[in-house]
Amino acid sequence: MVRVAPESLQRESGCLVAGFRERNAGAADGEGFGGDGGAAGGGGPGAMEYLTSVLSSKVYDVAIESPLQLATKLSDRLGVNLWIKREDLQPVFSFKLRGAYNMMAKLSPEQLERGVICSSAGNHAQGVALSAQRLGCDAVIVMPVTTPEIKWKSVERLGATVVLEGDSYDEAQSYAKLRCEQEGRTFIPPFDHPDVITGQGTVGMEIVRQLQGPLHAIFVPVGGGGLIAGIAAYVKRVRPEVKIIGVEPSDANAMALSLCHGKRVMLEHVGGFADGVAVKTVGEETFRLCRELVDGIVMVRRDAICASIKDMFEEKRSILEPAGALALAGAEAYCKYYNLKGETVVAITSGANMNFDRLRLVTELADVGRKREAVLATFLPEEQGSFKRFAELVGRMNITEFKYRYDSNAKDALVLYSVGIYTNNELGAMVNRMESAKLRTVNLTDNDLAKDHLRYFKGLGPS
Ligand SMILES: Cc1ncc(COP(=O)(O)O)c(C=O)c1O
Repeated sequence: MVRVAPESLQRESGCLVAGFRERNAGAADGEGFGGDGGAAGGGGPGAMEYLTSVLSSKVYDVAIESPLQLATKLSDRLGVNLWIKREDLQPVFSFKLRGAYNMMAKLSPEQLERGVICSSAGNHAQGVALSAQRLGCDAVIVMPVTTPEIKWKSVERLGATVVLEGDSYDEAQSYAKLRCEQEGRTFIPPFDHPDVITGQGTVGMEIVRQLQGPLHAIFVPVGGGGLIAGIAAYVKRVRPEVKIIGVEPSDANAMALSLCHGKRVMLEHVGGFADGVAVKTVGEETFRLCRELVDGIVMVRRDAICASIKDMFEEKRSILEPAGALALAGAEAYCKYYNLKGETVVAITSGANMNFDRLRLVTELADVGRKREAVLATFLPEEQGSFKRFAELVGRMNITEFKYRYDSNAKDALVLYSVGIYTNNELGAMVNRMESAKLRTVNLTDNDLAKDHLRYFKGLGPS
């Protein structure tokens, strides 16, 4: 598999990475994705099979039909009707139980007797554990040793056996597959299986039922692609005019890159901030469906995800995990980029399993995402009076964060600071003042990597 860097595909926030559906249009006309008979497109079930499987899915033994709510404040701000599909309100706080249960409910009594196994560092684990509890079968969940206690404890509380094995998800998965063979258990994959995809597709079925009238697009967070593939398989069959738009973090964009390359690629490295969607490779079946059915992918930065977590809090007093707020961030960025007005859009808020200790970083970044703050770095000569000069040049701008690093080996000190932005002109004028005074100043507002590096290098914060 080709290895590519996430940075090799970058777009302005909200700009659609698209065009691959046209390139794959051949089979998509008519019945679509392999036709009703299935395999012709090279793989899994056909369009009609997915549709009927979604309609007859058994997810409601464990899942609720989640509410679709109008986000009034956000809608007013953007000039659109923005609806949120509240998958964060599911038992175990994410949609993942839909796919897991749908697959497990189809196992034979003998298979259930032998038990199931999965590897996951997060929401899938809880989905499998809850499903196993309901079906009365034994479940082993393999999680990397780095999994926070809060996560593995909540899986254990659901009655599953947790095994902490391997330093990464890949190592945990290899161990789970080995044990699966040895013990004759059934492996429940997190996204790449028709029954899992079908279970997630019930989210699409509910949206179509809950929202009558014109609908411009549904925004879906993308990790391995199970949720978007399931939603697209259903919605494109019954409401083909509705755009299905995936949202990925700009440093975890395996689906956008795979669609652009026309084949699955592996990311050389993946950003872990939105841990629910941090995958290096998308699924085979999910990719097959996405390349024919998905209209495009929007990429968003970490700051924007944090701003959407804040928006959701202000809107509904709920806290989303980063992956759970991804679609909201994508919808907002898209509406702004294309100046969409008066249209109706849906964003799926997919999960709420937020680590409490990450809230500090989220609140710190949220204002940057809303562009109420800018993050800058200025190099100050280590000489008397230079700090006073710096303070004078900042002028009336409001400093909201300030970090200073002294390095006895360097001739310049580095100051990292944030300012509340009033207008772009004011910010530009301040940077110009610094530059005229020979104080080199860099605007880091749009550069996650540099900000992290500077914020957390030794002595400035948690590592
Ligand atoms: C909260 C949340 N959102 C989105 C996703 C992405 O789903 P998929 O892997 O089906 O694309 C996940 C996956 O675990 C998730 O936990």
